[in-house]
Amino acid sequence: MSELGLRNDVYRRPLSTALIRLGLGEGWRCVDVGAGSGDVSVALAAMVGSSGRIYAVDADPLARDVVAEAAAIAGEAQIIALTQAGEDLLLPETVDLAFCRFLLLHVYEPIAVLRKMAAVIGPDGFLVAQEPITSAGRIDGRPMSMPGVRHPDIGAMLPGLVRSAGLQLIDAWAEAPADAGPGPVASYLEELTEVDPGDASIVLPPLVTVIARREANDNA
Ligand SMILES: C[S@@+](CC[C@H](N)C(=O)[O-])C[C@H]1O[C@@H](n2cnc3c(N)ncnc32)[C@H](O)[C@@H]1O
Repeated sequence: MSELGLRNDVYRRPLSTALIRLGLGEGWRCVDVGAGSGDVSVALAAMVGSSGRIYAVDADPLARDVVAEAAAIAGEAQIIALTQAGEDLLLPETVDLAFCRFLLLHVYEPIAVLRKMAAVIGPDGFLVAQEPITSAGRIDGRPMSMPGVRHPDIGAMLPGLVRSAGLQLIDAWAEAPADAGPGPVASYLEELTEVDPGDASIVLPPLVTVIARREANDNA
């Protein structure tokens, strides 16, 4: 299984918690910013059905083909893969949900991306972001790190950033997968670090989820 497939596996619970909390359903139009290989886009497409639409946006042009292939394999024709930076996000219509996961830790200016995401949601739409607090993860009790990533602990700032982007915070929480011994959590960590954690206790970086919407008096 690839790193991305594993990521989807170990972080499946935070994703489903958020989507159930949101009430995502038939016919919703969504954008998945920083879609990567499209795991989340495919999951969203299955929930919105054939009357919905998913824009899978990624700055990497190679992602477009990977997402298109994932959509074809899943039989989800309502996924539209686009090459765009989150900082330049522009869609042909407003959406009911602007989503990102493991994106803002990589971008130069997270708030600029959140503002662009806020701008594409319709008056009754939502923004959902899921970002990690890397240093709160533990391997055998020791803190994790991600050298080279711009904002490894961006999750800890996410609720405030979302408010600064002009959105009303509806809900926010953190969830961390944990395990010891062989299994998806250990395999995911080994893919990331190239080190076998053996039987060590692992707490992966908590993923902070925020659910936000446009302010009621925001008629833009
Ligand atoms: C760690 S992957 C996350 C993929 C997916 N969201 C997930 O949770 O499995 C981060 C993705 O964000 C994309 N990305 C990085 N900077 C970006 C930006 N400024 N705008 C849009 N996508 C970006 C990368 O190309 C990569 O596919």
